[in-house]
Amino acid sequence: MNILLLGAGGREHAMAWKISLSPLCNKLFIAPGNAGTALCGENVAISPNDHKAIGRFAVEHAINMVVVGPEEPLVKSLGDFFASRKELEDILFMGPGSAGAQLEGSKAFAKSFMQRHNIPTAAYKAFTCDTLKDGLAFIDSLMPPYVLKADGLAAGKGVVICSTKEEAESTLNDMLCGAMFGEASRTVVIEEFLKGREMSVFVATDGNTYRILPAAKDYKRVGEKDTGANTGGMGSISPVPFASHQLMNRIEQRIILPTIDGLKSEGIPYCGFIFFGLMVVGQEPYVIEYNVRLGDPEAEAILSRVDSDFAELIQLCCQGRLHEYTLKLSARYAVSVMLTSGGYPDEFDKGFEIFHTERASACRLFYAGAKEKDGKLLTNGGRVIAVTSVAATLEDAMALAYDNARIIDFKGKYYRRDIGKDLL
Ligand code: AMP
Ligand code: GLY
Repeated sequence: MNILLLGAGGREHAMAWKISLSPLCNKLFIAPGNAGTALCGENVAISPNDHKAIGRFAVEHAINMVVVGPEEPLVKSLGDFFASRKELEDILFMGPGSAGAQLEGSKAFAKSFMQRHNIPTAAYKAFTCDTLKDGLAFIDSLMPPYVLKADGLAAGKGVVICSTKEEAESTLNDMLCGAMFGEASRTVVIEEFLKGREMSVFVATDGNTYRILPAAKDYKRVGEKDTGANTGGMGSISPVPFASHQLMNRIEQRIILPTIDGLKSEGIPYCGFIFFGLMVVGQEPYVIEYNVRLGDPEAEAILSRVDSDFAELIQLCCQGRLHEYTLKLSARYAVSVMLTSGGYPDEFDKGFEIFHTERASACRLFYAGAKEKDGKLLTNGGRVIAVTSVAATLEDAMALAYDNARIIDFKGKYYRRDIGKDLL
């Protein structure tokens, strides 16, 4: 098959790596890709959000299968575009159409979907500028802290947790009636704060059946011991030591199955990945959010543990034949440590040379914000490289990842030194 993968992060490098290993993969293109995906296939300078250019490229290069890494093209209806064009309709497409992508594209949709299907989630209400007064009254009825979520996509920044009532009231006002997240916060979901342990569960589905990929834990805050600003993710580990058999069973019965069945019963076709962001309170799992893609940097860790053919998994999803697939997973631990540009997630400089990648050993380097220029590898984003190691124990995988995280160097390099430490 000729395969076109969309995206440009560490997740896409990990996906490109796995896809390129498959005997099913004849030629792999990545749009737009990065310095890492260029090692697995051919980068093409097209934005994943430019539907027409992606469609044209797919026809011109006889693409058989399109795999979408990030959520934005999906929420912006790229799936519908492929399904509705005569010249594109036969191309396999991994990712939901705009109806299914609402699971991530609209928090209000996701919450009401969960309510309709009795999927455990925090109690909530949704408000607009017209119902601001009701929103303020709802805040008054809750105990702190308060969780306010912009309905739409806000580049991972749309959740604000307020510790006081005053802060919650003014934030709600700014989100709904000010310009805090623009269009994305025209509707705001206010929900109950859940105290527990976070984990991420991923499935691949063809809309009928599903395969549960390895679970992971992501470290979202920039600072050690989970302090400081939220980021896209500073590291990840897989498997999750506290995710017992019993807990995973509960997650499957109460969350995964009703989600797949709910989509089906509402007539929403869904071929793609579903990422369940969970809070485990005691032994009870709750959904904090759905995403319609793999996580980053969770993908770097979980794909390092997938031993069966990843391109075949995707192909069978697209063909509605996922029941034929046998997923094989490694029992080993994967740890991914994100090397970032100093200053991230706020302001940072880029364009610094990255040194010593050739000295890395017993790890995989998944490039995120890294580009090649004149034979040099340069930083090109906030998250630069996900250093990923696999070993028999969490401790060993951490040690290997950190040995390499220390060696690789660039000006302003920053990384958390406690990825996985809380779970030892
Ligand atoms: P999200 O963008 O939905 O992943 O939310 C960002 C972060 O906010 C999550 O990773 C959680 O740590 C936190 N969060 C979101 N919703 C809740 C909630 N209802 N209770 C507690 N923490 C939450
Ligand atoms: N690492 C969290 C995410 O991809 O949304």
